[in-house]
Amino acid sequence: MHLGLIGFGAIGQALLAVLAREGAMPEALTVLARPGSEARVQAALAGRGAVVARVAALADARPDLVVEAAGHGAVAEHLPELLGAGIECVLASVGALADAALAARLEAAAQAGGARLVVSPGAIGGVDLLAALRPSGIEAVRYTGRKPPLAWAGSPAEAVLDLRALDAAATFFTGSARAAARDYPKNANVAATVALAGAGFDATQVALVADPGVRRNIHEISVQAGAGAFDIRIEGVASPDNPRTSLATVHALAREVMNRRRALVV
Ligand SMILES: NC(=O)c1ccc[n+]([C@@H]2O[C@H](COP(=O)([O-])OP(=O)(O)OC[C@H]3O[C@@H](n4cnc5c(N)ncnc54)[C@H](O)[C@@H]3O)[C@@H](O)[C@H]2O)c1
Repeated sequence: MHLGLIGFGAIGQALLAVLAREGAMPEALTVLARPGSEARVQAALAGRGAVVARVAALADARPDLVVEAAGHGAVAEHLPELLGAGIECVLASVGALADAALAARLEAAAQAGGARLVVSPGAIGGVDLLAALRPSGIEAVRYTGRKPPLAWAGSPAEAVLDLRALDAAATFFTGSARAAARDYPKNANVAATVALAGAGFDATQVALVADPGVRRNIHEISVQAGAGAFDIRIEGVASPDNPRTSLATVHALAREVMNRRRALVV
C-alpha cells in the first residue's frame, strides 16, 4: 500500500507509530508538508517515507489513500485536487465541511474523479449507529463536549471565562453545530461529525463545557430516532503533543488505513 499523509504533527506522527506497532506500516509513504518545513519533516520521518511540498506532487505519486491530519485550511487547499485526481481521502478536520460551499466543492471533485471522501469518526464512537438510523427519521441529536479548562485555551471561551481560575463546570456555548463550527473552528470536528452523520448542522444541538473536574476530553452524544435511541459517553485521553486532540482520533485513522488491507473488515 502507498499511503499519502497531509500533516506531520501530533496526529500524523502518532499515526505512523500505531501503524508500526501493529505491523501495518505501508510499503510506501509520501508526506505533504508545508513549504519550508520539508527538511524538518524529512528528518522526523527518518527514512520511512518521501516528503513533498506541493499537492500536485502528492497526486503524481499516486497514493492508494491519503489521510488528512493537518487542519481546515489544508482541506480546502489540497483535497479538491486529490479527489479530482481519483485519490481516496480520509478526513480528520471534519469541521471544514461546515462550510457548505467547500463541502459542495469537495463532493463535486470526488464525483468527477470517481474517488471517495471518507469522514473519519475521529475522537468519537456511535457515528455508525447514528448514520444508520438516519433513514428512520432523526428526532433529536445533542452533543456535549466537556474538556479541562486549559484545553479550551486559544478559543473564544477565553473571552467569557477565566480558564485558569475556574472552580466549577461552566457551559460557555450552546447552539447549533453550524454556530459551534463557526465560533470554535479548532474544536468543531466532533460536532461536525455528529451533524454530518445525523440531523445536519442546523438541527444538531451542541453544548461546550469547561470543567475543572475532568482530566480527559469527554464527548456525550444523545440520539432520538425512529428506529432507536442511544446515549453514549466517550472519555478520550488527550494527545501529549496537542491537548485539543484525543488519541482516539489517531486510532480511528489507523483503523481506516488498516481496514484497507484486511479481508475481514470491522
Ligand atoms: N475528527 C476529530 O475528532 C479530530 C480530533 C483532533 C484533531 N482533528 C483535526 O486534525 C488536525 C491535526 O491535528 P494535530 O493534533 O495533528 O495538529 P498539529 O498542529 O499537531 O499538526 C498539524 C500538522 O499539519 C501541518 N499543516 C497545517 N496546515 C497544512 C497545510 N496547509 N499543508 C500541509 N501541512 C499542513 C502542520 O505543519 C502540522 O505539522 C487538527 O487541525 C484538527 O482539524 C480532528
